[in-house]
Amino acid sequence: MTLPNTPAILVTGGAGFIGSHTVVSLIEAGFRPVIVDDFSNSSPNVIQRLEQITGKAIAYYTLDCLDLQGLKTVFAQETISGVIHFAAHKAVGESVQQPLKYYRNNLDSLLNVLSLMQEYQVQDLVFSSSATVYGQPDNLPVDEQAPLKPAESPYGFTKQVGEQILRDACKVSALRSVLLRYFNPIGAHPSGLIGELPLGPPNNLVPYIIQTAAGLRERLTVFGNDYATPDGTCIRDYIHVVDLAQAHVQALKHLQKQTEASYCEAFNIGTGKGNSVLEVIQTFIQETNQGLPYTIGPRRAGDVTAVYASVQKAEKQLDWHAERSLAQALVDAWRWQCSLK
Ligand code: UFG
Repeated sequence: MTLPNTPAILVTGGAGFIGSHTVVSLIEAGFRPVIVDDFSNSSPNVIQRLEQITGKAIAYYTLDCLDLQGLKTVFAQETISGVIHFAAHKAVGESVQQPLKYYRNNLDSLLNVLSLMQEYQVQDLVFSSSATVYGQPDNLPVDEQAPLKPAESPYGFTKQVGEQILRDACKVSALRSVLLRYFNPIGAHPSGLIGELPLGPPNNLVPYIIQTAAGLRERLTVFGNDYATPDGTCIRDYIHVVDLAQAHVQALKHLQKQTEASYCEAFNIGTGKGNSVLEVIQTFIQETNQGLPYTIGPRRAGDVTAVYASVQKAEKQLDWHAERSLAQALVDAWRWQCSLK
């Protein structure tokens, strides 16, 4: 139960895929999330869906984080004790075509949030980073000590720069930050009420699978089967979005326990297990009994062969681990797709 004057957790991008699931987890853990979202890549009906799932009224502001004055009114009106910053553009291919859009949006939004946190003396920030910072790691599973590789896309570079901005800012201010390096988030809330809503043809594997099974796409193309992996297709660490959401709650609790002002640490958030593209396809067919037309196509530029997480640091320090299986995530994603019909 949240008390009426519980300080708020500001969730930028809180109507998006990972943000909306995190809002549910925050409420379940007794926090009071306040959403800021411009609904540029999400639907306003997510708010009602969140109210339906949680049975709570959801506070939200329709606002672009680039609007510093607008964001300032949120900090002035709410008593904010921490921030989870999701708001960002995230399409890898689009970022290659429109790099300035990505640099301006993803970096200025973060800088706006940080300047207001400083002004209103808010200490704790959880930042959405990505496994993309590792590129193709030299060793697997990849741990947080692994060197960061030159970014393959402007999107990936905004995550590396975002991390560096936070490391620099934490050193010289009261700011404390956890950088969560997400592996491949998939799935949906088991209620089928919230999930991923890509605009246009999906870029990512699981949204493409479920739209193909639903008959919205003719066939899935597997991007290459000549990689140096057991079945020739790329390997990723697919994590259920509800597990990922819970990692944010643990990160926030972890920050609140810190005594040093300059705390800044990165954590891998994955399952620790790699699955190939063909394994994902086979698991989907097996679990849902759906037909899934697919064909093998050429490699996609920029794809790494294999990446999966070492999750020991998150287990030890955040007291968190992924609980849900790939099968469960695919069934939940399929339920969500079916609810959209
Ligand atoms: N894939 C296909 N067909 C598709 C879509 C994807 O075969 O239609 C394959 C890809 O080639 C890859 C795997 O499925 O091997 C996963 O691809 P996704 O696009 O779902 O995920 P990525 O690992 O490419 O992307 C993830 C995050 C991005 C991040 C990127 C960086 O979703 O945010 O990692 O590596 F930037």
